[in-house]
Amino acid sequence: MNSIFEIDKEYVADTYARFPLELVSGKGSLLYDNEGKEYIDLGTGIAVNTFGVADDEWADVISAQAEKLSHVSNLYYSEPCAILAEKLCNRTGMKKVFFSNSGAEANECAIKTARKYAQDKKGGEYYNIITLKNSFHGRTVTTLAATGQDVFHTMFNPLTDGFLYANANDIESVKSLVCTNKCAAIMFEVVQGEGGVMPLDAGFVKQLAQIAEKEDILLIADEVQIGNGRSGKLYGYMNYGITPDIVTTAKGLAGGLPLGATLFGEKTMDVLTNGTHGSTFGGNPICCAGAINVLDRIDDRLLDGVAKRSQIIFDSLTGAEGIKAISGMGLMLGIETEKDASEVVAECMKNGVLVLKAKNKVRILPALNIPVDLLINALEVLKNACKS
Ligand SMILES: Cc1ncc(COP(=O)(O)O)c(C=O)c1O
Repeated sequence: MNSIFEIDKEYVADTYARFPLELVSGKGSLLYDNEGKEYIDLGTGIAVNTFGVADDEWADVISAQAEKLSHVSNLYYSEPCAILAEKLCNRTGMKKVFFSNSGAEANECAIKTARKYAQDKKGGEYYNIITLKNSFHGRTVTTLAATGQDVFHTMFNPLTDGFLYANANDIESVKSLVCTNKCAAIMFEVVQGEGGVMPLDAGFVKQLAQIAEKEDILLIADEVQIGNGRSGKLYGYMNYGITPDIVTTAKGLAGGLPLGATLFGEKTMDVLTNGTHGSTFGGNPICCAGAINVLDRIDDRLLDGVAKRSQIIFDSLTGAEGIKAISGMGLMLGIETEKDASEVVAECMKNGVLVLKAKNKVRILPALNIPVDLLINALEVLKNACKS
């Protein structure tokens, strides 16, 4: 039989520059390849495996749900979907939730909602949405347009019209777009993940919220990557003392199953009505059961653990040989290295640690409950890989 590498190369579309590594199993923050080699995972499937791979409690919950009711159409009610929405609203103060399958879809829903809100209230010409340069909001034709990086804008034209890009941390650039265009919303990530793990300034975020309030423009927080406990609070925006009108999330929400959620606040809770939006798999009982388990476990004790682990990382890496700077928040961190980041990623992999890249940085997104001894071992490997 051909190797998995060969079969994959022949039959899977060539959109990913894969590493020559086949993972076959794992438990928590440990992964194993097809030759039995062990890896400490600091990537979590790009911020998905909130409690690591194949977490026992989570696996039990989703297995039980799979045996009870695996899927049901949104034409009917099902308990996991309703209970998850209730929990998300209770934990955030938001009022209603739309479930989908991914971050891009959660953002598409937010964009549709913003446009409908503006159209209903001010008129159809108020369709523009301001996003930030260096942002990332997904890979559909509309969320690519929302993404404020030119590199994504050339291949699939024409992209969806009506997106304007302001400079991150430059409130004058936002104001000038608001003054000269008819806008529906401002959409942003409090930490720009794919853009190089760049947190926004607190003052800038507060001013965004003030402008949105004053102009009746919706504030959309894209919490797809930083959300669900990774920042040290349940959602990243909670570190900034603001209340968005719409919050989007996915990735870590269901701890390893595809689930997107768009949370609506007071202003936006009734914008989408019967027939205006939908998703076959959105609110799937297994995904929602997994997410209930994840959400219930993101409590104060776990969040304290996130802060503690984050501090361990900063203490260990700050000033280490070959490391120039660390950016980010909680357990979503970018490490600027003297060596090329790709070289560091490859060296770590050789030595049994999986890390990621974001732009020119090494990016780490460990499980929120990664055992501290494993984390310390992984940081030693990472530091060695950064040395010249
Ligand atoms: C901030 C942000 N928004 C949206 C997305 C798109 O999410 P998905 O790949 O689940 O569609 C990502 C993915 O990296 C992201 O980081």
